[in-house]
Amino acid sequence: MDLLRALIMCGIVGYVGHRPASDLLLDGLSRLEYRGYDSAGIAVVEDREIAVRKRRGRVAGLIELIESHPVEGSIGIGHTRWATHGDPSDVNSHPHLDESGRVVLVHNGVIENHDRLKARLSETGCGFRSSTDTEVVAQLIGWHLEQLIESGHAADDPETCWSALRATLDELEGTYGLGVLFRDCPGHLWAARCGSPLVIGVGDQEYFLASDTSPLIGYTRDVVYLDDHDTARLGRDGLEVRHRDAGTRDVAVQTIQDEAVDVELGEFPHYMLKEIYEQPDSIRSAMRGRMDGDDATAVFGGLNADAGELRRIDRIVLTACGTSWHAGLVGEYLIEEFARIPTEVEYASELRYRNAPLTDTTMVFAITQSGETADTLAAVRECRRKGHKTLAICNTVGSTIAREADGGIYLHAGPEIGVASTKAFTSQVTVLALLALYLGRMRHMSFRAGEAFLESLEAMPELVARTLECHDTVREVARRFADCGNFLYLGRQYNFPVALEGALKLKEISYIHAEGYPAAEMKHGPIALVDERTPSVFVTPRGGVYEKVVSNLEEIKARGGPVIAIAGPDDERIAGLVDEVIPVPDVPEFLQPLVTSIPLQLLAYEVALLRGCDVDRPRNLAKSVTVE
Ligand code: G6P
Repeated sequence: MDLLRALIMCGIVGYVGHRPASDLLLDGLSRLEYRGYDSAGIAVVEDREIAVRKRRGRVAGLIELIESHPVEGSIGIGHTRWATHGDPSDVNSHPHLDESGRVVLVHNGVIENHDRLKARLSETGCGFRSSTDTEVVAQLIGWHLEQLIESGHAADDPETCWSALRATLDELEGTYGLGVLFRDCPGHLWAARCGSPLVIGVGDQEYFLASDTSPLIGYTRDVVYLDDHDTARLGRDGLEVRHRDAGTRDVAVQTIQDEAVDVELGEFPHYMLKEIYEQPDSIRSAMRGRMDGDDATAVFGGLNADAGELRRIDRIVLTACGTSWHAGLVGEYLIEEFARIPTEVEYASELRYRNAPLTDTTMVFAITQSGETADTLAAVRECRRKGHKTLAICNTVGSTIAREADGGIYLHAGPEIGVASTKAFTSQVTVLALLALYLGRMRHMSFRAGEAFLESLEAMPELVARTLECHDTVREVARRFADCGNFLYLGRQYNFPVALEGALKLKEISYIHAEGYPAAEMKHGPIALVDERTPSVFVTPRGGVYEKVVSNLEEIKARGGPVIAIAGPDDERIAGLVDEVIPVPDVPEFLQPLVTSIPLQLLAYEVALLRGCDVDRPRNLAKSVTVE
């Protein structure tokens, strides 16, 4: 069988200690399932025997399998998979064994030279079972181990395992986060990182391995982040980390913060709904400690840039993917209006391969919820390689981008589990508003204007809470239009990125085709799509472009298209023109995205529910896209 290229971006867990490993691994995998849910599996080593249980589908299916076929042991690894190539079958599920059954591993990443390595191993008689690149890594470690044993090294000596692992890693091209067990050296678990995140949780005579900190919560707050080219041995006797070039290194144990803790669903049926309802609090958290009433400005603890440096900036580049990119577009409007600094928003996937002319006075901000998005990370690295100060606006404390950036601003939104991003967006907009204020106040923005800005911002958590009262109306609107096959989302100025974000939300979780456009642009193409089965969602609260948007709206009505309007309270004029109105509170224009995005999140949620879609785990998507 041809070796298909498996692009895998997945969740990894591991455990070494004194408790039954399978319970901990399954718990960890359930919390990592948002990273991928094509298959799940675990391997446990006990009495020099490796037991593997894996199957296509969700972690719930694996739990059933283990209930009927339990595994004993207190050392193990686990994996939940998201694949874009390669069949998500039982056989392609992780963990993967080598042919001799001595080595078993889980992998997150892409091995780019897997076909060459496979051809070489096949020539030595090695038989492959799966069509993944990951099995090549297991087979290669097995092959190196065999060579070492034949030349007199003991299979139960950890140094032999280190050597087999190191020799393998030296041959790999691509990215990996690995968790590896050796049958004949059963007191230990090995980990290796290059490009895919791994964190080790430090407990009382026990260690945890995970792709991010969510599986560790409730077990330990003490963590060690692995860097690229680190390998680690986690044993009941301790932890050792070796860097490819620097040898054994000191491990710095850090304590994760309280905000990482709240990952339970509580009374909500879905994480997405819970996170939509958390927005009054998450916006408050993004502002906490950052409003300086005395100087009518914002304060940031971690920017690592002094006032002189910030005053010299004459251009800003915001780079991101997906929803974070939409927040960046709002940021462009904010920074240009209030700080008057020319700002561009670049898809990270484009910026990383462009030779963009960045000067000494350009500052780059990467915007990312997870801090792990591969394209955003690559853009950060490319900008830093060229010597540009690169800051992060990030939610996940300790994530790779947060650690590699020169400084930045945390969102403090708490973990976002729903694959469709909601609260991260409004927190990003809040932080970008504070940044615009801060940069504006060190230029030409007056004290009075700064005060008014802060006052408006301070009122937002309460106004967002009031906006959530539109939920019943949104539910009715969803019932009326849930079976339409196409939607248009239209808005202008600050509400143009909101239109893009509304369309993305609907696409992501209800699989309905939706397009977002600046409202006036619909005349240049999208209006041809309008018919009585294609609703247009107009984001049209009161403000400077209100009249213009109303004209655009009338153009759609004149062509028989149904219109849903997100409008200010008691807007009789709009109510007389459109089919459905979803009211939102009046707020200053520059903060409108914080309220107008809420009904669009709820609309996508309600439509997806009516269509029977899996809201928190939409098909083909994953929360953290850690491959290119
Ligand atoms: C994925 C998620 C999106 C997210 C994007 C960027 O595509 O499904 O919801 O907006 O990645 O993620 P980041 O973590 O960098 O903000």
